[in-house]
Amino acid sequence: MNVYVCPVCGAPLLREGNALRCEHRHSYDISAAGYVNLTPPSAGRHGDDAEMVAARRAFLNKGHYDPLRRAVCDMLSAASPKTLLDAGCGEGYYTGSVCETIPDADVYGVDVSKKAVEKASKYCRQASFCVASVYRMPYADRSFDAILNVFSPLALDEYLRTLRPGGSLVMAVPAPDHLIELKRAVYDDVFIKEMKDDALDGFSKQEVKRIAFTMDLDGETLRELFGMTPYAKKTSPADRAKLDCVDRMSVTASFFVYRYTKL
Ligand SMILES: C[S@@+](CC[C@H](N)C(=O)[O-])C[C@H]1O[C@@H](n2cnc3c(N)ncnc32)[C@H](O)[C@@H]1O
Ligand SMILES: [Zn+2]
Repeated sequence: MNVYVCPVCGAPLLREGNALRCEHRHSYDISAAGYVNLTPPSAGRHGDDAEMVAARRAFLNKGHYDPLRRAVCDMLSAASPKTLLDAGCGEGYYTGSVCETIPDADVYGVDVSKKAVEKASKYCRQASFCVASVYRMPYADRSFDAILNVFSPLALDEYLRTLRPGGSLVMAVPAPDHLIELKRAVYDDVFIKEMKDDALDGFSKQEVKRIAFTMDLDGETLRELFGMTPYAKKTSPADRAKLDCVDRMSVTASFFVYRYTKL
């Protein structure tokens, strides 16, 4: 099935040789790695940079977030989707597992970071990846039976547009105590924030699962973990340097995984 639409005119995109083309002759090359860049010419966002992408790939490949990966895949496969999208897929760590868990599904991945999508399309050959923003997705209305969102921007209007009626949104978010020891090691004042209301307009909540476990991390892995979080870019060099001499640390990983259905 073809779900891609032209980011310029909205017409369906069809494959011709090594490109996707619409009837108005807008054309998008498929890269050697297999992804297509469908960012409209005016877009200015770039998402995670090469350093964050490399840190996340290194950390996730060590398997520390396996319990989360399994929970996400279990929740998605309970919905038996035939087409699904990993929105804000990063380097495709969860996309790859979803392809293995639900081998008959047509799996798509989108991320605004070209560096991340390049890695994802090499890592997971079964899925179709594109570079685009989740706030303006190059997919036709009602394309997907399920959307997965792991720590990525929540573009609810676009999720509602591209999900079929009754389709599922599986979403993983950090719980208030996620990485609390790491934050305390870096910052002088750490506040544990309250969880936000988890009702989502246009969706009905079906299921929520709490996943919490302790990770015993060596210094290198700890720094990779820090480097893949949003704090990496917001922390002063002096605060960041506090992690340089840490050899080991036990760190709490704590998430909520939700499944909603589109009303
Ligand atoms: C915390 S990472 C999560 C990546 C992946 N889901 C994972 O957990 O490994 C957030 C991702 O959202 C992407 N992102 C940020 N803004 C975006 C946008 N507007 N559209 C699509 N992706 C975006 C970043 O490039 C990054 O890959
Ligand atoms: Zn077009």
